[in-house]
Amino acid sequence: MRSHKCGELNTAHLEETVDLCGWVHRRRDHGGVIFIDLRDRTGLVQIVFDPDTAETFAIAESVRSEYVLKVQGKVRNRPEGTINPNMATGEVEILIKEIEILNKSETPPFPIESDIEVNEDTRLRYRYIDLRRTEMQQKMRFRRDVTRCLRNFLDDREFFEIETPYLTKATPEGARDYIVPSRTHENAFFALPQSPQLYKQLLMISGMDRYYQVVRCFRDEDLRADRQPEFTQLDIETSFMDEDGIMDIMEDMIRDVFQETMEVALPEEFPRITYHESMRRFGCDRPDLRIPLELVDIADEMKDVDFKVFSAPANDPKGRVAAMRLPNGSTLSRKDIDGLTKFVSIYGARGLAYIKVNDRDAGIEGLQSPIVKFAPAEVWESVLTKTGAQTGDLIFFGADKAKIVNEAMGALRVKLGIDRGLIEGKWKPVWVIDFPMFDWDDKGQRWNAIHHPFTAPSCSAEELEANPAEALSRAYDLVLNGTEVGGGSIRIHKTEMQSRVFRLLGIGEEEANEKFGFLLEALKYGCPPHGGVAFGLDRLVMLMTESTSIREVIAFPKTQTAACPLIDAPAEVSDVQLRELGIKLRKATVKEEPKQD
Ligand code: AMO
Ligand code: AMP
Repeated sequence: MRSHKCGELNTAHLEETVDLCGWVHRRRDHGGVIFIDLRDRTGLVQIVFDPDTAETFAIAESVRSEYVLKVQGKVRNRPEGTINPNMATGEVEILIKEIEILNKSETPPFPIESDIEVNEDTRLRYRYIDLRRTEMQQKMRFRRDVTRCLRNFLDDREFFEIETPYLTKATPEGARDYIVPSRTHENAFFALPQSPQLYKQLLMISGMDRYYQVVRCFRDEDLRADRQPEFTQLDIETSFMDEDGIMDIMEDMIRDVFQETMEVALPEEFPRITYHESMRRFGCDRPDLRIPLELVDIADEMKDVDFKVFSAPANDPKGRVAAMRLPNGSTLSRKDIDGLTKFVSIYGARGLAYIKVNDRDAGIEGLQSPIVKFAPAEVWESVLTKTGAQTGDLIFFGADKAKIVNEAMGALRVKLGIDRGLIEGKWKPVWVIDFPMFDWDDKGQRWNAIHHPFTAPSCSAEELEANPAEALSRAYDLVLNGTEVGGGSIRIHKTEMQSRVFRLLGIGEEEANEKFGFLLEALKYGCPPHGGVAFGLDRLVMLMTESTSIREVIAFPKTQTAACPLIDAPAEVSDVQLRELGIKLRKATVKEEPKQD
């Protein structure tokens, strides 16, 4: 139907007769001449109609926004003074001789011009129109570039792309499952995979050696800007490689994709920090290393002070007292600090003590704060030295259970970093390693796996059982600018160890056999040492395109309430279908289907 695409025309095509197809982006009548910006996936081109060709002109007069046209015309230079340097095709225009309206369009619910703000509900309701906008077209194109580049990298290194089932059984990745009833198996349900974790391990047992898959994962969990109920992982597994080998090759892959798609050179080597160091310095396990603020422990200083708020957690093994220096922070007003106190209260902090360092050389006299009086000069001197405080700085303090201090001060660190423009550098990847195996669930009175139950410990089974709290795992996360973009581990490859880990997690033998018997059995048939990683593809593309949410880089995302307003899913199903599946609803909202003739 067409000889060229709209966005590719330029002065090299002068005098050529071209056939184009596309949408009417904008139409202007200019004293007897009609200009239309015609749009397709490649961009816009200006087409011109003059009244000399009366029939064509009459049709052009009748077209409206988003009509679909087929046109034929000759490429010519735009007259002097009308060249548009902001447009790739801005030097040329096409004088049209023939026009055919391929389809009409209702007035779109919002204009396609990218710079016009449209609320997200409307955008998602009419996603097929939203996706016509330049910004979305570019994001989809970029996502395709990224995926292609990742695939090429892995294909070149002999990773096999292998598909694994979507109708499967629960895979524990910490979220709830989406379950699928099955007509042929009464009272039994499939679960959609939270990840292909177990299948990829089985593929290693199958001798596939190196596997990857661009794969959808399903997790019924609370949604945030960087979480979707269905999202895409680049899932990878390899045999006979240890964690250093895996991290090295993955680092190469991430460097390659940044270089190829954005011409960004990431560091030669990504820094690696341990989980414990990350918690200590940044209050979280996904540190944004672009922010040059750090937490400093001052429990030793605060053990004997006359201020219970500090001394109690300083003496509590589960407590933490941390200071964070904000360079030039003494410019913060009382109101600013009240606002920040409110902010940290979201994370459970009961206050936000601070000290303004008005004159570093004047010792305690140079400090301004209601809490200075609670401790002697040498305590403050030590705090100032530890934090590296200088005149004009402000020091914040968090004191409570370590969990609260980490969450509150960690979030404060990020907020101050962004609000006060302290971000340094553009891309700061970091591997977080040496995660603990488990964390203690106070409510359930049991251990939970921090990564997943198939992750290998770095210690022996005996050491693991003797001290589960201290045991470290062979897991690693890749964090980019404060977002976890990938995570993986070396897996347990022996039945004995896997059974022990299940036991520690409170999964009894019977339950283990029922849920993971197939794995325990498979591990007995010559399972190679193996490990892998999965990257959140949507998250990676979100960061690379500097989008505010992963919904911006997914063609048809779900809303915050995990629904699709475009096709109106989820939806009720008919009583007939339910009966076939052997399902009776607790709340009978479904009406009997009208009888078919
Ligand atoms: P994990 O659960 O850490 O590991 O997931 C891997 C990566 O997937 C992304 N991700 C998400 N992205 C969008 N929406 C979500 N709801 C969501 N949940 C996770 C994150 C995360 O780093 N099987 C293991 C991997 C392994 O051990 O190899 C797994 O799924 O970027
Ligand atoms: P108060 O004696 O309760 O008025 O607190 C004195 C200062 O300590 C105030 O600035 C409070 O915001 C701060 N504060 C109170 N509790 C905490 C806490 N758990 N962590 C850090 N600062 C706190």
